[in-house]
Amino acid sequence: MTGAVHYGKRSWAAMAAAIALACHSVRAVSVADIQGPAYLSPLKGKSVSDLTGLVVAKSTSGFWIEGPASDDDRVSNGLNVFTTSKTVLSSVSVGDVISLSGVVSEFRSSSSPNDLFATELDSPKSIVVHSSGNAVTPLVLGPTGTRSPPTQELSALDTGSDGWLSVPNNQSSVDATNATLRPDAFGMDFWASLEGRLVTVRAPVALDFENDFGEFWVHGDWAVTGKNSRGGLTITIGPDGLPDANPETVIIGSPLDGTTNPTVSLGKTFSDITGVVLYQWIRLLLHPALDSSNRGIYARSHNSTGDDQIQRR
Ligand SMILES: *[C@@H]1O[C@H](CO)[C@@H](O)[C@H](O)[C@H]1NC(C)=O
Ligand SMILES: *[C@@H]1O[C@H](CO)[C@@H](O)[C@H](O)[C@H]1NC(C)=O
Ligand SMILES: *[C@@H]1O[C@H](CO)[C@@H](O)[C@H](O)[C@H]1NC(C)=O
Repeated sequence: MTGAVHYGKRSWAAMAAAIALACHSVRAVSVADIQGPAYLSPLKGKSVSDLTGLVVAKSTSGFWIEGPASDDDRVSNGLNVFTTSKTVLSSVSVGDVISLSGVVSEFRSSSSPNDLFATELDSPKSIVVHSSGNAVTPLVLGPTGTRSPPTQELSALDTGSDGWLSVPNNQSSVDATNATLRPDAFGMDFWASLEGRLVTVRAPVALDFENDFGEFWVHGDWAVTGKNSRGGLTITIGPDGLPDANPETVIIGSPLDGTTNPTVSLGKTFSDITGVVLYQWIRLLLHPALDSSNRGIYARSHNSTGDDQIQRR
């Protein structure tokens, strides 16, 4: 009898500990569990431990891990781990399978209250490297892969007689609404469903000049609408009678390794670009995960003599 009471006390203590843990920390979740099928994480604000993933890219302000792929196209299996700690950064390399703890966070700069929140893992700790030198295989977008962006609409919230150009167009509602993603229908949902993943854009074509940061818009080898004779994409009127938002375009950001993108101009085509998908402003940015040892972006343009010019910066 005493034994039973004793056992009861112990099990109550264990249950209390488990409840405390459930409130503050979620064990053994996957990256896909953190991303979920919507804009905002179901685990926002929670501490997680024993999170396992393959390191697929690194920068000076963090790294990206991928967990097992979800068979739900809405759910990304990639995640940005935010840290500027040199000690933490030097403890992981691309190709490592690691486990770690941290806090799931939806981040945007306080000075940019209309930006989308980026889902990330903050305060990484308890990092254990289980194996190194594993193959890192990007998801190839376009017809050779399994995923291509939609070509017409940006967001389910673009209502009004002018579609995405209607005024007011309250972009900040995207996160407030936190709808589940519809990557087949809406461009923002498509790119959000790839947040944090390493992807390859085949045969990218520049759609403008680079900006002051060396960033430029491209489309890949997938279907596009509004292609014009200069190689750009014209905003046409879609079959629904609304302006086509050209959501099949994506910005190429500055390389993660600190190198510089090539100079670009409308219609220039490039070698394949591999990078991680992340948010910038309200659209998505593909940051080339350039590693000086193996990847670069090569520009190929046809000049007046018809010759190819290859350049690398
Ligand atoms: C966002 O929506 C998803 C899907 O309905 C839900 O699981 C998640 O908890 C929501 N996140 C927040 C922070 O509201
Ligand atoms: C936009 O959405 C936000 C969040 O739902 C809301 O607070 C704000 O009032 C909205 N602004 C307009 C102009 O509709
Ligand atoms: C055209 O490209 C060729 C090969 O790179 C180069 O030698 C030539 O100078 C280029 N011509 C012009 C006008 O840029």
